[in-house]
Parts: sequence; structure tokens; C-alpha cells
Amino acid sequence: MDKKITIAIDGFSSTGKSTLAKQLAKHLGYVYVDTGAMYRAVTLFAMQNGLISQDFFNREGLIEHLQDITLQFLYNPVLEFAEMYLNEENVEKEIRTLAVSQLVSRVAEVPEVRHKLVEQQKHMGEKKGVVMDGRDIGTVVFPNAELKIYMNASPETRAQRRFKELTGLGQEVTYEEVYNNVIERDYIDTHRADSPLVKADDAIEMDNSTITKQEQLQKVIDIVNELLAK
Ligand code: DC
Repeated sequence: MDKKITIAIDGFSSTGKSTLAKQLAKHLGYVYVDTGAMYRAVTLFAMQNGLISQDFFNREGLIEHLQDITLQFLYNPVLEFAEMYLNEENVEKEIRTLAVSQLVSRVAEVPEVRHKLVEQQKHMGEKKGVVMDGRDIGTVVFPNAELKIYMNASPETRAQRRFKELTGLGQEVTYEEVYNNVIERDYIDTHRADSPLVKADDAIEMDNSTITKQEQLQKVIDIVNELLAK
């Protein structure tokens, strides 16, 4: 069967979006795009170039330098995952630090940044056969996606997950720091003027605090199969 669809997965940080999106893409043979990685890479660029820190943000400077930023996903066959490259350098590890998480929402608020990344995301999904996760995929990037999923989970569940992930990567963080970051990002992501995180009217809401990842994946695969059979 050659029919391909576009799948948009949105929701707060650490709701299990990327796990579901990756597994789904693998199962369907689709391309997986982690749009959060793109906002993180722009944030890393701003940090590396002295344009942002905890108490300073040269917004105009970042806007001026947007043309110097090239983002690419290159597939790593060993990890079976497309890694993020910023100006041809693999930044997959650097973009996952708490330091980047603490600044990324401020960068993602800038309309010029959003415009640049949304254009690239639209282009990546032109041929369908894509699973894209983020905050505005079903509302802005692909408002006509055949399947939209909105993921949710309690802030405590999400902070626990993220804390485990970061400490597993050897980063020295406290649960409290991670929890505060989750709450702060939720606030900024839902209150920014340009494309705030909202559930699209036609999105299916899923909360994975109570069902297993496997059950959730199966549920979505069943929905996809129904759509493909239409
Ligand atoms: O999914 P993530 O936690 O890696 O995303 C990092 C940040 O990027 C998040 O705090 C909000 C922002 N983001 C966004 O504004 N729009 C997207 N489509 C994806 C992420």
C-alpha cells in the first residue's frame, strides 16, 4: 500500500511524545522529525555566540544571525535515529543539557525564529510519510495532518522522567531544578503570543500516566491502519 499520511504529535515536554513518535515512525517506515531539537539547536547557537544567558538575551542579535544557522537531521544507522547538526556539527548531546532547556522557551518565543523553523518543517513534510513532534505541529505546521495526537501527563510524572533521563546521561541536576524547569517551560510555551501550545480541535488526546508505552503505541497503530484503509 502506497498511501502515506502525516502524523502530528504535540504536547508539553516529557509527555513521551518523542518515544511514541520514534516507535511509530519505525513501525511505519516513516521519517521522524523532532522539532524541539531544532529550537534547542538555535538556542545552543545563541549561547555559543554570547547572545543569550540566564540574565541576558540579545533578541535582535539572534534575529540578525538567523541566516547563519543551518540545521540538518542526519540519520545515524547505529542508533537508528536522525541526529541534529548545527552548521554541520553534530550537537545531539549538547542540545539535551539542562542549560539549553532553561533558555529554549525564550528563544522559541521569537516569531522570526519560529518562522524560519516552521518553513523548514513544512518542507520536510511535503511528501508525507512523516511523524513530527513538537508544540504547534497540528495547529501551525500541518493543520491538515490526517492524524493529530495531543499528549499529556502530570508535571510530576514528566519531571521524574526527565530527571531520570538527565541523570542517566551523567548530568548533575536535582529533581527540584528539573521540576521547576518543567513548570516554567509549560507556562512560557502556553502563554507566548506566537503559536502557543494548544490542543488542535481535531487532535486525539492521550495521557500516558496510566497506560504503558506499548499499549499506547498499539492504540495509535490501530488508528493509523484505519486511516490507511480508508
Ligand atoms: O520538545 P522539547 O522539550 O525538546 O522542546 C524544547 C522547547 O522548544 C520547548 O520548551 C518549546 C520549544 N518548541 C516549540 O516552541 N515548538 C515546537 N514545535 C517544538 C519545541
